[in-house]
Amino acid sequence: MPKKILITGGAGFIGLHLARRLAAEHDVTLLDDFSRGRVDPDLEELRRSVTVITHDLTLPMPQDLPRDFDEVYHFAAVVGVQYSNEEPERVLRTNLLTTIHLLDWFSGLDGATLCFASSSEAYAGSVEAGQAPIPTPEGVPLVVADPTVPRSSYGFSKIAGEVLCRNYAAAHGFPLRMVRFHNVYGPRMGYEHVIPQFIERLLAEKDPFEVFGADQRRAFCYVTDAVEAVIALTALPDRETLLVNVGNDEEEILIEDLAKKVFAVVGRNPALAAHPAPPLSPVRRLPDLTLLRELTGHRPKVGLEEGLSLTYAWYLGAAAERIQAG
Ligand SMILES: NC(=O)c1ccc[n+]([C@@H]2O[C@H](COP(=O)([O-])OP(=O)(O)OC[C@H]3O[C@@H](n4cnc5c(N)ncnc54)[C@H](O)[C@@H]3O)[C@@H](O)[C@H]2O)c1
Repeated sequence: MPKKILITGGAGFIGLHLARRLAAEHDVTLLDDFSRGRVDPDLEELRRSVTVITHDLTLPMPQDLPRDFDEVYHFAAVVGVQYSNEEPERVLRTNLLTTIHLLDWFSGLDGATLCFASSSEAYAGSVEAGQAPIPTPEGVPLVVADPTVPRSSYGFSKIAGEVLCRNYAAAHGFPLRMVRFHNVYGPRMGYEHVIPQFIERLLAEKDPFEVFGADQRRAFCYVTDAVEAVIALTALPDRETLLVNVGNDEEEILIEDLAKKVFAVVGRNPALAAHPAPPLSPVRRLPDLTLLRELTGHRPKVGLEEGLSLTYAWYLGAAAERIQAG
């Protein structure tokens, strides 16, 4: 049975991959203010099979939006370490207002399921306080990270978003999925994250090649795997709130080794210059995915090497388009 699905932040990275996957079977609407999501060939292609609404969700939802959605994925947010460092007030204002407006509207729907995109950054304070085991399960007590460090704005906005969603769901009785994404990567993820930054600097032939936080460890999840996990979670018949880590725990890697893997994919071998990580960036991040597996049987399909190659191919194409456009 085709479902009617709304994705806020649908022109962004994960939102667009999710829309692409769902549009084959379902009636999909994207809502985005295009503050970061772009009108590019990927979106133009998708536009043939989805409805696109341009709207700034720091304002209430459009009055004329249909109310018969089966699933709503709330992914709109200001995302990324760079923005939380440089514009913490925008991160907080946008991420809180978009969620409140979405919830005010969603509470009036009948029978729809809400999926809220939270983040591994919700654990940042707990990790700092030494209260988060690794791999980190969903149930660890959350600690608010140092509020004097601008970077904490993003994690705080995600914790507050979870608390808002949880309480609206309790008050209005709707099914809720809250997914804490961990290091999702892939084509069209922007240029603010570690993997595209490595690729861009290699394409620019940087040598020596600087790597910040080279001694940190992460586990990266290819975007189509993350998308399969959230679709499976949202489709579950459970009426109650589910809070679930989404990521890939199978190939944890040192950032220095990640850089070397990207060198191999791009076919370059610059001298690596290792630097310390910025404040509040956890030394190690790894999700405990027991609950995701129990609920959905999910297993990632795309390994790191294949995912890096697919990502590189997209960025190479985007770089060629930029050169062509002058
Ligand atoms: N990518 C990751 O690894 C990751 C990790 C943890 C959590 N998340 C969460 O997943 C969600 C999607 O992340 P992403 O990586 O696709 O980010 P993204 O920046 O690519 O997508 C977010 C989208 O929201 C839109 N948006 C921002 N402000 C808006 C507003 N006021 N009104 C309407 N739209 C607005 C942007 O234009 C953008 O297209 C976000 O909520 C993010 O916090 C992502």
